[in-house]
Amino acid sequence: MSLELLADLHLLTRDGQLNADARRKLKQIRHLVGLLRPALDDVLARYEAPSIIDCGAGKSYLGFLLYELVLAPANKGELWAVESRPELTTQGAVRARKFGHMRMHFVDGSIADAQLPAQPNVVAALHACDTATDDALLLGITRRADHIAVVPCCQAEVARQLDAAKSVKHRDAADYALFEHGLHRREFGSHLTNVVRALALEAHGYQVTVTELVGWEHSAKNEIIVAKRVGRSNAHAQRKLDELLQRFAIAPALVRGLAGLTSGAATSATEAQH
Ligand SMILES: C[S@@+](CC[C@H](N)C(=O)[O-])C[C@H]1O[C@@H](n2cnc3c(N)ncnc32)[C@H](O)[C@@H]1O
Repeated sequence: MSLELLADLHLLTRDGQLNADARRKLKQIRHLVGLLRPALDDVLARYEAPSIIDCGAGKSYLGFLLYELVLAPANKGELWAVESRPELTTQGAVRARKFGHMRMHFVDGSIADAQLPAQPNVVAALHACDTATDDALLLGITRRADHIAVVPCCQAEVARQLDAAKSVKHRDAADYALFEHGLHRREFGSHLTNVVRALALEAHGYQVTVTELVGWEHSAKNEIIVAKRVGRSNAHAQRKLDELLQRFAIAPALVRGLAGLTSGAATSATEAQH
């Protein structure tokens, strides 16, 4: 990334050095761009104007880095940054114009409701808070993105569901021991959330890789789920997912979102028949 852009993003100290936080953040983002590289090369080779959506973009460090390292040299590709804090989208748009990044677009609003390309090629989310990661996954799956990559943020939803369902009668005592203590519930809930995300992607026709973004010494929120659409729905993954949901009596946001779509489609089909 150019020094001018780093300075404009307030990542440099007065004497032009990266401060410790900036160094850590940029290291994560560079690793993410590296892991996204095969997906980006794929869509740049296959499409005239591939679209990439960065969900929960924040200050758009990821977007600016992607633009400078990949889209600008390729001389094609559109980058969409969606962010619910309007001051950040305004700043991002001003900055993109200032640096001549004319193929960067900033969309103010929630991932679920934002006006975005109907058929994005790559959907990414870096530390999108809690269930915002699920909104990004839902967006990618429903719009049949070629590639999806998420680095989940802290997540509390499933831990709450495990807590609420602790009196479920058929619960196996050994299963319950997995999350009886609050700390275990948080960690197990977070793990379960990501397992559900990976299985849901597989069930909807994606080939999934789960790996770490950078060394754990740099960030505790370090898991990355990378998915490539191979186009076949996977009944075996769906069965595993259903069993897991039933066994732990949970219904995470992504599963609810996908179920809503299925029942919505069924309702429209029924309405169409009448
Ligand atoms: C932890 S920050 C990460 C920002 C950026 N991706 C990064 O890694 O530097 C999460 C961002 O997601 C935004 N956000 C949270 N939920 C969102 C939603 N449902 N739709 C759009 N943006 C959302 C927040 O406003 C925040 O800027």
